[in-house]
Amino acid sequence: MAALEPTDSFAVGMAATTTDVLTVGAGLEPALEATFVAPTRVGPLQIADLEDLDAAAQKVMDPGAFAFIASGSDSQWTLHENRRAFQRVTLKPHYLVGQPQPELRTTLLGHALSMPIITTPMGTHGLAHVSAESGTARGTGEAGTLMTVSTMANQPIEVIAAATQGPKWFQLYLLQERAASLALIRRAEAAGYTAIVFSIDAFAPGSSDATIRMGFTFPPSLPIVNANPAQMKKSLGWDDLKFIQDSTKLPVVLKGVLTPETAKQALDQGVAAIQVSNHGGRQLDGVAAAFDALPGVVEAVGGRVPIIMDSGIRRGGDVFKALARGANAVAIGRPVLFSLALGGWMGVRSAYERIAAELSRDMLIAGAARVADIDRRFLIPSAGPVR
Ligand SMILES: Cc1cc2nc3c(=O)[nH]c(=O)nc-3n(C[C@H](O)[C@H](O)[C@H](O)COP(=O)(O)O)c2cc1C
Repeated sequence: MAALEPTDSFAVGMAATTTDVLTVGAGLEPALEATFVAPTRVGPLQIADLEDLDAAAQKVMDPGAFAFIASGSDSQWTLHENRRAFQRVTLKPHYLVGQPQPELRTTLLGHALSMPIITTPMGTHGLAHVSAESGTARGTGEAGTLMTVSTMANQPIEVIAAATQGPKWFQLYLLQERAASLALIRRAEAAGYTAIVFSIDAFAPGSSDATIRMGFTFPPSLPIVNANPAQMKKSLGWDDLKFIQDSTKLPVVLKGVLTPETAKQALDQGVAAIQVSNHGGRQLDGVAAAFDALPGVVEAVGGRVPIIMDSGIRRGGDVFKALARGANAVAIGRPVLFSLALGGWMGVRSAYERIAAELSRDMLIAGAARVADIDRRFLIPSAGPVR
């Protein structure tokens, strides 16, 4: 019989040591449809809570694309901690102060903004909506606030810049070749970006258990068009910050700061602003909530440069607490992409309108007239008896 032939026995042995990879994990759907299709709806959203956007967006998005955006790295402790941290501080209202109508308008590095809330840099908006970064830029601009565009965008940074009249910053991932980084900076300057945001904390493309289980890969129809992700510089030092500062007259914002030590050195090197962030829990799982890292950075900075905080901001009350702890503005991430998925640029505008309405209402009730008035007087540091 053929089965007894030595070569066949050998073949069976080979099968036992197959190099085929067995996927381990709960029965999840395949990450991507054969042909990737992004949502197309453009229209306003009625939103009660920005956290509701996740579940609604999941219904209209490709499962792998949703998982890539929503999840955090490893056990997602930092991802969840970003939300829990806000629940550990208590607001202290000031009543009977002749409540004035709250004024949300503020300025950030010379830009007049409708609210102290901006769009944080995120890659690949094409996963969320056909309008991609242009849709986000328009929605952010229509809300009267600032758009930060990532190096990992799906559209040319010039096209995105043209989609909004509003202020915009360019987030730079340094590339191995300094000439390539310099070329990106020059393009950003020429396209009207007014600051370079240097991100220092991202050495992996948002790797999460969910995307590994699903075998998620980026759809070939959605290329990263402004830079080659494979060329990202994987080892960064303070000389890299100096290189960027020496390369441009634009202000440089350092993003990913979590410690007073980093903040102090950044100030010594003359950064224009600091963005306190843990990348939305997408990089080093186990680091502190950005909201908990904020006080140390605020103390080290001592008011010398503006501080922006991102990671976990979902409600007007979170914005209020971040400002009370000393941030000058906050940035939001996933809610922007999920509102984009549900309603294109109009969805993004709806999300901003909702969080602004919450902040305005909280300021009114708490007795804060202007953004600059919100400080530690409005916080009870730890839950417990009110003093
Ligand atoms: C899908 C996705 C892509 C991101 N890509 C970038 C990026 O290209 N550059 C960057 O500096 N930060 C990136 N971030 C991090 C965000 O700027 C920000 O730190 C984080 O999303 C804030 O947390 P939040 O989503 O809880 O609001 C990304 C975040 C998400 C969700």
